[in-house]
Amino acid sequence: MKVCRTPADLDALSLRREGRPLVLVPTMGALHQGHLSLVDLGREFGPVVVSIFVNPKQFGEGEDFESYPRDLERDLSLIEPLGVDAVFAPDVALMYGARGEVTVLPGNRGQGLCGGDRPGHFAGVLTVVAKLFGAVRPDIAVFGRKDAQQCLVIAQMVEDLKMGIRLIDGPTVREPDGLAMSSRNRYLDPAERERALCLSGALAAGRDLLVSGERQSAEVAAAMLGKLAAADQVEYAEVRRVPDLAVEEQLSGRVLLAVAARVGPARLIDNFVVDVSETGVTDAVLLDEIAEHRGSPGMV
Ligand code: PAJ
Repeated sequence: MKVCRTPADLDALSLRREGRPLVLVPTMGALHQGHLSLVDLGREFGPVVVSIFVNPKQFGEGEDFESYPRDLERDLSLIEPLGVDAVFAPDVALMYGARGEVTVLPGNRGQGLCGGDRPGHFAGVLTVVAKLFGAVRPDIAVFGRKDAQQCLVIAQMVEDLKMGIRLIDGPTVREPDGLAMSSRNRYLDPAERERALCLSGALAAGRDLLVSGERQSAEVAAAMLGKLAAADQVEYAEVRRVPDLAVEEQLSGRVLLAVAARVGPARLIDNFVVDVSETGVTDAVLLDEIAEHRGSPGMV
């Protein structure tokens, strides 16, 4: 598994030689089972490049950019056994140059939720993802549904900028007790780790209410908020329509239940994506178009 520092290093590997689609799994390192599941998903389609780059532009003032865990050797040891074809680990100077003048801004999907709490966050994400797409030129990119708004904002960029890259959203990998895996879980002490369960608990409460027949968005959001009392600070508990993230009073079709809260030193997020119909509530994916392509690499 070659570690490439520049796009030229990647090109030299000729990963497209077999004519299969090239797959990119973008990460900021500090890898866990959630990231590894995205690699496994990507490998169903073709050769996989994992990018590891802690992107300064998506961290706000006072956020954890400096302290974000960085351990390339450990990350490499985790992905090597998965048969990853290459790692792209550029440095900040390569990605942003001396000035880094061009920024990609999100549209409406970047408003509210994590976009409201973290101004500039999605511009930072889109800008770096556009650069990673330019450097690696993948046919397919795999993202985690755990960062649902991020997936939808990136999908809009790919569509609007005619990037021609197929996106796949991989399911959220959880600890046995339901906590969504996150690189930031390591900031939690045992008592905080226990309280962090209130995020998945809040989502379960929201989904239970939907299952019981409730269709008022405000009622579902209130049920989620109630369960977040164990957090130190709630950032949001909301229900939005998928894929445009519009706010609706009455819920139907595909919806996103989303929560964000601070527990101790960690800012944590989690979500469920469900289809709501008259007959019931079922788990759903974010990016339908791609789900159809799963297992059908010939279609790419
Ligand atoms: P990072 O937080 O490292 O996450 C990399 C990818 O792993 C994202 O697509 C994220 O949604 C996914 N992921 C995180 N936790 C997961 C879990 N428990 N189950 C499944 N997938 C999970 O997200 C970023 O990095 C950055 O914003 C990035 C897209 C790399 C741009 O800098």
